[in-house]
Amino acid sequence: MKPSKRTSPPQNGVAIVGPGRLGQALGRLLAQAKVPVLFVAARRASKARRAVRFIGRGRPLTVGPSAAALTQAAVILLTTSDGAVASVAKDIAGLAENWAGRVVLHTSGSLPSSALLPLKRRGASVCSLHPFQTVPSARAGVRSLKGCCWGVEGDAQARKVASRFVRLLGGVEFRVRPESKTLYHAAAFLSCPTIVMLMERSRLLLRKSGVPARMARPMLAKFVAETARNFADLGARRALTGPAVRGDWKTIRRHLTALRRSSPKTVPVYRVLLREMLRLAGRQRPPRGLL
Ligand SMILES: NC(=O)c1ccc[n+]([C@@H]2O[C@H](COP(=O)([O-])OP(=O)(O)OC[C@H]3O[C@@H](n4cnc5c(N)ncnc54)[C@H](OP(=O)(O)O)[C@@H]3O)[C@@H](O)[C@H]2O)c1
Repeated sequence: MKPSKRTSPPQNGVAIVGPGRLGQALGRLLAQAKVPVLFVAARRASKARRAVRFIGRGRPLTVGPSAAALTQAAVILLTTSDGAVASVAKDIAGLAENWAGRVVLHTSGSLPSSALLPLKRRGASVCSLHPFQTVPSARAGVRSLKGCCWGVEGDAQARKVASRFVRLLGGVEFRVRPESKTLYHAAAFLSCPTIVMLMERSRLLLRKSGVPARMARPMLAKFVAETARNFADLGARRALTGPAVRGDWKTIRRHLTALRRSSPKTVPVYRVLLREMLRLAGRQRPPRGLL
């Protein structure tokens, strides 16, 4: 199909492309904030229809040449998985020769806005708009994306649109350097999925210690929420508690013995974290042979 040469003014509203967890949550929140959601485009028609039902607005489209209607939207929100952003941007760019007056945003934390280069080359203003938030399901995202912090990077016109969306969602925006997007994303990785893994390790150890299954998760959730609060209020150094900060080498030795017996896989994790902790706490080196 030949790209359309039409440059008719776009309609005020958003098209969501790749409506997974984030796309659907964002779509519903924007619709609730009275932003017209015009189209929702997915690889499969059934997925697009389901996403439209969740969002509550929009016309379902299938990504591909038949998605030419996307060119009618003033704003395209690309919420596909990171690996698909560049190729989908290229495919969408091919739908029209002239994208002037359109804004295209992607929500990847690790990719810079230049992943949308094919659209920029055809006149679109592009930017990346990344919520520093975890969205394990669309439903959870509707709750957690309100008031969260958003990393923004890209062209001025697109950033204006991004800022408006952030304001509508009661959030706070900050700028990220495009060349630092991967590092920025690694920072997010270090304090979210890794925390889940550490909590899961703790849960298993609690279970082995006899803590009832129904208590382990809520108990850990309170513990971690309080830790996070102390980190925010006091900073890392003062939020640290436990035997490493006290230099209680006897307890640490007993931890390691118990872990070697009950959860040997946890020993290297414990040691790496302990070393970092001792450094942060300004403790002298532990007795020889402990680490
Ligand atoms: N979830 C989070 O916590 C979170 C937080 C911040 C930022 N983000 C970012 O937001 C973006 C989306 O993440 P997500 O968690 O919402 O992912 P997701 O739930 O896996 O959804 C990704 C969507 O992209 C679609 N997709 C994949 N390849 C495609 C292609 N070639 N053409 C068209 N659609 C395609 C998938 O369609 P199918 O259903 O057909 O596979 C799916 O609907 C990512 O860039 C991610 O880094 C996510």
